Amino acid sequence: DEIGELGKAFNLMTTKLYQVEERRKKFVSNVSHELRTPMTSMKIVSDTLLSSPSWDESIYREFMQDINTEIDRLNKIIDSLLYLVRVEKDELELDLSMTYVNYLLEWVIKTLSPIANNKNIQLSLNAANKIQIQLDQEKIQQCLLNIIGNAVKYTPENGRVVVDLEENRDFIIIHVRDNGIGIPEKDLPFIFDRFYRVDEARARKTGGTGLGLAISQQIIQLHQGSISVSSQLGEGTHVAITLPKK
Ligand SMILES: Nc1ncnc2c1ncn2[C@@H]1O[C@H](COP(=O)(O)OP(=O)(O)OP(=O)(O)O)[C@@H](O)[C@H]1O
Ligand SMILES: [Mg+2]
Repeated sequence: DEIGELGKAFNLMTTKLYQVEERRKKFVSNVSHELRTPMTSMKIVSDTLLSSPSWDESIYREFMQDINTEIDRLNKIIDSLLYLVRVEKDELELDLSMTYVNYLLEWVIKTLSPIANNKNIQLSLNAANKIQIQLDQEKIQQCLLNIIGNAVKYTPENGRVVVDLEENRDFIIIHVRDNGIGIPEKDLPFIFDRFYRVDEARARKTGGTGLGLAISQQIIQLHQGSISVSSQLGEGTHVAITLPKK
């Protein structure tokens, strides 16, 4: 009956609101944690410096360098957060222009190649076809830098990262495959969450903020596209980005 239907709808709404509220709480607690960590280490370092007036200059320099690194990290987190908030509020208009995806990929690969070279990672691109679609160059660049950057970052020395550009009638698909550390199955559903990082990544010094994929997904969704990830722990990861041609 109608009352029954209404009751069901109401219950569903309450559950949804509850979930939104839970996500909000978790987000606030994650942000606080991420901001506090660098703060804590800066506090320790500066307390140590202040506690004795007679440090060597070289020690001063070393400690200041630590503080400086933490400030950079804080800035990066805040920049990414502000960007994410803007993307989510739909404040960010797409600045669309007809773009050759193969050239865009070449640029991203070129930008990342020094990092790959340092780890002796073979970074290659198969994009023989010239494919042109409407996209926001700057935002898609940022998204590709993160996703291909992740593949390089989470692949150990002497590994390989392969990027393929494909198309069918309605879509283009960018495949990014690495033979790196992989993602445990239990973590896969969460890697697009803000600040989510798999333990192995978290333990790494080179690690980022865990906002990259959240931002990348928003950007792709703004373009009416989608991202999917499959992975095998210890074997590698495959990310597929699909974008509509029209
Ligand atoms: N290619 C990959 N191989 C293995 N793990 C990955 C890969 N890509 C992403 N991950 C896992 O997913 C997590 C989230 O990725 P995301 O790009 O959002 O964050 P990040 O790279 O840690 O930091 P940021 O991109 O903000 O600098 C990573 O911390 C890592 O654990
Ligand atoms: Mg990343």
